[in-house]
Amino acid sequence: MITPIQIEKLREDVSSVLTEKRMNHVLAVEKMSFRLGLLYFFGDDESLMLLRVAALLHDVTKEISDGEQLDILKNHNIEPLPEELASMPTIHALTAAVVIPERFPAFADERVLNAVRYHTTGREGMSIFEKIIFLADFIDETRTYPNCIALRNDFFAANPEYMDYEERVRHLDRAALRSIEDTLAHLRGKGRAIHPLTLSARADLKARLER
Ligand SMILES: [Fe+2]
Repeated sequence: MITPIQIEKLREDVSSVLTEKRMNHVLAVEKMSFRLGLLYFFGDDESLMLLRVAALLHDVTKEISDGEQLDILKNHNIEPLPEELASMPTIHALTAAVVIPERFPAFADERVLNAVRYHTTGREGMSIFEKIIFLADFIDETRTYPNCIALRNDFFAANPEYMDYEERVRHLDRAALRSIEDTLAHLRGKGRAIHPLTLSARADLKARLER
C-alpha cells in the first residue's frame, strides 16, 4: 500500500517539473479527486491513495515541448493518431502514461495508468476511478471557467452523499457527460480536432444513462 510519505515525496517530485500555476491545478485535482473518491471508494484506502497518485501524475509531461512529447512516443514505438497530432494538448496524457512506469515505477498501477492515459479524451467503458480523475480535472477549485464552476456547484448541491450507490454512479456519469458535452462544444467553437475516443465516451455514457 502506498504511504502518505510516498505521496508527499511524489508531490515534491512533480512540483519540481511543473510551474507554480500548473502545480496549483494539480494539487486542486488531487483534492477534488479525493473528495469525489470518498463518495465512491469510502473505506477503500488503497483506491483513495491511488486517486491521489493519478491526480498528481496526470499532467506530469504537460510542460515539455511538443517535440519532446513526440520523441517520447517515438522511443516507445507509439504512433499517434492524426487526431492526436492535430490536438497536441491531448498528447501529454499519452506521454505521461508512458513515462510513469520508468520515472515513477512505484506508482505504475494499472488504474493510475489508465486514468492518466484517458484523462483528456475519456473513452468507452471508463471505470469509476477514471471518471473521477476525468471529472476532477474539469471541476477542480482552480477552474474559473463558468461552466466548470456551474458543474462543480451542481454536482455537490445535489447531495450525492445521500444518494444510494447506483444513483450516485449515475450522478457521476451525468457529470462526466456534461463535461464532455461542454468540451465538445468548446472544440467545435474553435474548429479544433475532436478525438474519436471522446465521441465514444459520450455515446457510452449516454447509453448507460438511458438504461
Ligand atoms: Fe489537468
